[in-house]
Amino acid sequence: MRKQVINLLSQKLNHEELDLVPKSFDIVGDIALMRVPDVIRHRRLIIAKAIMEVNNHIKTVLCQITPTRGTFRLRKLEHVLGEEKTVTIHREFSCAFQVDLSKVYFSPRLSYERMRIARLVKPGEIVVNMFAGVGTFSIIQAKHSEVKKVYSIDVNPEAIALLNKNIWLNRVEDKVEAMLGDARSIIDNELTNVADRVLMPLPEKAYEYLDVAFKALRLTGGTIHYYDFMNANKIESPIQKTVDKVTSRLKELRILNEITFSRIVRSIGPRWYQTVLDIKIKS
Ligand SMILES: C[S@@+](CC[C@H](N)C(=O)[O-])C[C@H]1O[C@@H](n2cnc3c(N)ncnc32)[C@H](O)[C@@H]1O
Repeated sequence: MRKQVINLLSQKLNHEELDLVPKSFDIVGDIALMRVPDVIRHRRLIIAKAIMEVNNHIKTVLCQITPTRGTFRLRKLEHVLGEEKTVTIHREFSCAFQVDLSKVYFSPRLSYERMRIARLVKPGEIVVNMFAGVGTFSIIQAKHSEVKKVYSIDVNPEAIALLNKNIWLNRVEDKVEAMLGDARSIIDNELTNVADRVLMPLPEKAYEYLDVAFKALRLTGGTIHYYDFMNANKIESPIQKTVDKVTSRLKELRILNEITFSRIVRSIGPRWYQTVLDIKIKS
């Protein structure tokens, strides 16, 4: 889509401006979300028009004007073109997710990761999703595996309200349970030693909450899916740095483990990466 957008824009922007047009746009349902550098901010309406012209199912173009931040991982948005709305239905792997981009975190860029995890879930497993958001990981597992239950925790009441709506929309009431609150206190009080698998899709806090993820697992062990953000220069490996960081923490906690899989999920800025480790915890 970017190529077509650039083609259209080439008659309206100069070369320097064209070089600064974002490399990609996020499409969430019928909303396009773009980040426009400050120097070409005054050109955002022209860029938005090109996006809508190229992709006729887009009804709204929003500009993200801050990075995602705070406990709820929200970003400030500005309406640029089309219907003035932040709510949409996003479809992924035959699941539907109602999302309000102004009130909850959502990224279409994690879709491969969501299906990758769903394919690992074995029949009858109990899963704890510590940072569930609107339920993307949980609902895709419920629809595409024979999971028994996915306890889905989030501290943002708006995320839990949408998660409940999405559980109903996707008819997975028997498999996904929404739980409002801090993952640490919910696991301490209600979900100790219950899970075969624990998901930690919040890179900013996963390290701090590793001990709690372990606590949620059955006494016989299980798997933790650990996400992090890692800085690495040209000669360093972001994966190795994540492995070293996590292994030393698990050693401190005296937890026997084996890293069974690792990968770079995506690049998030110059020399910054989102990484994932699948950690097999022994009993
Ligand atoms: C990066 S989002 C992930 C959302 C979801 N897994 C997805 O990929 O669509 C992280 C979520 O963790 C929630 N969160 C932050 N701190 C938390 C905590 N201490 N306990 C539970 N949820 C928390 C935020 O509200 C946010 O919805």
